[in-house]
Amino acid sequence: KLGIFTYDPGFTSTCSTKSAITYIDGDEGVLLYRGYPVDQLAEHSSFIEVCYLVLHGELPKKDQLEAFEGSIRRHTMINEGVKRFFDGFYYDAHPMAMLTGVVGALSAFYHDTTNNKDPKHREIFAHRMIAKIPTIAAAAYKKFYGQPFMHPQNNLDYCSNLLQMMFAVPAEPYHVDPVAARALDVLFILHADHEQNASTSTVRMAGSTGCNPYAAISSGIAALWGPLHGGANEAVLNMLDEIGDAKHVPEFMNKVKNKVEGVRLMGFGHRVYKNFDPRAKIIREQCHKVLKHLGKENDPKMELALKLEEIALSDDYFKQRKLYPNVDFYSGIIYEALGIPVNMFTPMFAVARTVGWCAHWMEMTADSSTRIARPRQVYTGAPVRNYVPCDQR
Ligand code: SDX
Repeated sequence: KLGIFTYDPGFTSTCSTKSAITYIDGDEGVLLYRGYPVDQLAEHSSFIEVCYLVLHGELPKKDQLEAFEGSIRRHTMINEGVKRFFDGFYYDAHPMAMLTGVVGALSAFYHDTTNNKDPKHREIFAHRMIAKIPTIAAAAYKKFYGQPFMHPQNNLDYCSNLLQMMFAVPAEPYHVDPVAARALDVLFILHADHEQNASTSTVRMAGSTGCNPYAAISSGIAALWGPLHGGANEAVLNMLDEIGDAKHVPEFMNKVKNKVEGVRLMGFGHRVYKNFDPRAKIIREQCHKVLKHLGKENDPKMELALKLEEIALSDDYFKQRKLYPNVDFYSGIIYEALGIPVNMFTPMFAVARTVGWCAHWMEMTADSSTRIARPRQVYTGAPVRNYVPCDQR
């Protein structure tokens, strides 16, 4: 019941997770949040409204949305003591390392106000976490660039607030570009949840022990950081930089197909989607919109990405393995066009996925039949044997 594959003596794995949050049909390329197709939510909704939907299971009425948004805004500040954690990091600490540490530290500030069994406490935790993760991510950015932290401005919407906390400086007025804010909003909608992916399963496994929920979210951030998971958006941009020019694509593709040093086409392939990741198509369209708005239609990285996609989709190696672009293939190009540096790409993913992690933690914790996760294994070690004294070995 915890999203964890349970190995039984028959060596068969049975997925015994039950969840009402997200539905994926990997063969058809379908993704639904609480039954709503993600492409409709990306077109018509906002990230804060999708947060309500993912957490509570229904689209909010006007008054419910206003109350929810008001609660999130009241929790955007972080304790001054939490800020001091950033003083301990080297200036060049990876922002994901800072997020993992600082979010885990939140459990030290809220350990006595988090009774996992109390539905009100569970909701306050989720609101606090969703509200504070952009402030913490922006603080990690400021630390890395040696700039003063910017306080949240609660007259701004969620994504505009994040952009101003990252890019505003005390010495200058800062105006949020509404196209940039909307592009981030759409990206966050698309990254909000994704069923039992590695980081969400990590949150569920940690949370199943009854630990402090902030500590459970911190474990999810750590899992997301991996380049095969949420770290792939950063790896895609590094891969595009390494290829450099379309004329090097054939040589790179040969390395991939010959598995030279484990080289992979980052941003391609998925354990569940054996068709196009529906999110990738929407992000590709957003890419064109944002680049056009910023006068960067001929962005060389976008052109290279389109070339890579065209070649891969017509290549038997990829077709036979059903490898298609996933959510990470184009997202980094938008982030970079918005001025977000590569080392902040995965923190952006973490900001968006926090609502999914919280929703799964709430769903699991509210279920009284939930038991601690305890996967079994296939033992491949030595047979039983007796101890041998050192002088007889
Ligand atoms: C995310 O789970 C989720 O929902 C995750 C996520 C979410 O929203 O939470 O969707 C977000 O993590 C998306 C994935 C981001 N990762 C990447 O883009 C990294 C590159 N992709 C892969 O490494 C890989 O495709 C995975 C990790 C995503 C999936 O790995 P699987 O399902 O374990 O696939 P596999 O390693 O068993 O590969 C099967 C075959 C192998 O070849 P053969 O051994 O059969 O010859 O496909 C090959 C692999 O070598 N392969 C690739 C490839 N991905 C798989 N070959 C080249 N490039 C790739 N990207």
